[in-house]
Amino acid sequence: MDSFDVVIIGAGAAGLFCAGVAGQLGLSVLLIDHAPKLAEKVRIAGGGRCNFTNRELDPRAPHKHFLGENPHFCRSALSRYTAQDFIDLVRRHGIPFHEKHKGQLFGDRSSEDFIRMLLAECDAGGVVRWQPASVQAVRQAAERWELDTDRGTVQSARLVVATGGLSIPQIGASDFGLRLARQFGHRVIDPRPALVPLTFDGEAWQPYAQLAGLALPVRVETGDKKQRMAFDEDLLFTHRGLSGPAILQISSYWRPGTPLRLDLAPSENLGAELLQAKARSKRLVANELASHVPARLADAWVQQDASWQRPVNEASDKALVALATRLSQWELVPTGSEGWRKAEVMAGGVDTRELGSQSMESRRHPGLHFIGEVVDVTGWLGGYNFQWAWSSAWACAQAM
Ligand code: FDA
Repeated sequence: MDSFDVVIIGAGAAGLFCAGVAGQLGLSVLLIDHAPKLAEKVRIAGGGRCNFTNRELDPRAPHKHFLGENPHFCRSALSRYTAQDFIDLVRRHGIPFHEKHKGQLFGDRSSEDFIRMLLAECDAGGVVRWQPASVQAVRQAAERWELDTDRGTVQSARLVVATGGLSIPQIGASDFGLRLARQFGHRVIDPRPALVPLTFDGEAWQPYAQLAGLALPVRVETGDKKQRMAFDEDLLFTHRGLSGPAILQISSYWRPGTPLRLDLAPSENLGAELLQAKARSKRLVANELASHVPARLADAWVQQDASWQRPVNEASDKALVALATRLSQWELVPTGSEGWRKAEVMAGGVDTRELGSQSMESRRHPGLHFIGEVVDVTGWLGGYNFQWAWSSAWACAQAM
């Protein structure tokens, strides 16, 4: 029977990085993945350029950019292996990158640069890779882990589960890690799609469906007074609902059945502006409104009420104030989301209260570790999820 110090299941961001670090620390490592292609999520990330970390990540305040039932769990790993540590690695490999919006770092060329880097780190650590290979059963026997795979049974002192989340099943996502966690008595926080476009009922959405493709900066909010979350980002209208960074971000906090509140003209005092326009302009309300929001939105919006379909000087103050209020306090209840097919990440996962935050090791079964997205730590859009993959992988490797 083949025997290793460590077997890692899942050769995505976290698994590859953990394998390279552990190998270079002198451990014998086997990395297994069932997908025919390596690290598909790294490949498609950031539109093919990989938003690999974020300069604004503050490990002392992880709750700012991460969600989970135990929001401080990720602090230790994120502060021991920081965004700067990963940036240094990227620099050592000569990969050119640039900063975009809000601290987001992207490769200049292609995500392939990062996959090559992760593989080079694995090679430097002498990591053995089996791919595609499937794991049929996992057992614990005399303080060792035994795995039945389609290449035979293999044994190790440590087992690392890095099988990621449930999103995009067509490129290899599976619930293997969640099932394995349950098999060994771990609680799993219900998984749900996050960083995902939200959808609206067909008929109720009809008036807005014509706006598909339109993007504009907005403020979006969800939650009640006790737990309000808000983002100032771009919104994108789609045929079935809303997307864009504003919606992806808020989707991670949104709970089914609850409303979203949108301000479609967040930098304006729209009511006052329209009342002032009334005194000096004879333009149609829609044309006046188009000075503050995109013309397509203005045209569609005034169709909702006859009192808005006239020259601004003929509209009543009440109608103009109502128009401004509806645009700046648009409340709507999504019917659902685009689900696992479109979600960038999974929220929920292996309950962190049963894992060591310095080692990612199970408190129930020493020698069993969970890293990356399979764990109940979910980052904001913008490179935070990859940083969690790198940091949790590094912390795990140091502890083995
Ligand atoms: P990851 O999904 O990377 O790897 C899991 C691996 O496990 C896969 O290789 C899979 O094949 C394997 N596996 C699953 N089941 C298995 C089984 N039963 N047996 C063997 N192997 C199995 N994040 C970010 O920070 N910046 C970004 O730009 C983006 N962009 C982005 C775009 C899109 C379209 C998506 C879907 C996601 C992103 N993300 C992102 C999120 C990011 O890709 C994600 O959080 C990390 O890849 C998670 O790393 P993991 O290693 O945990 O899982």
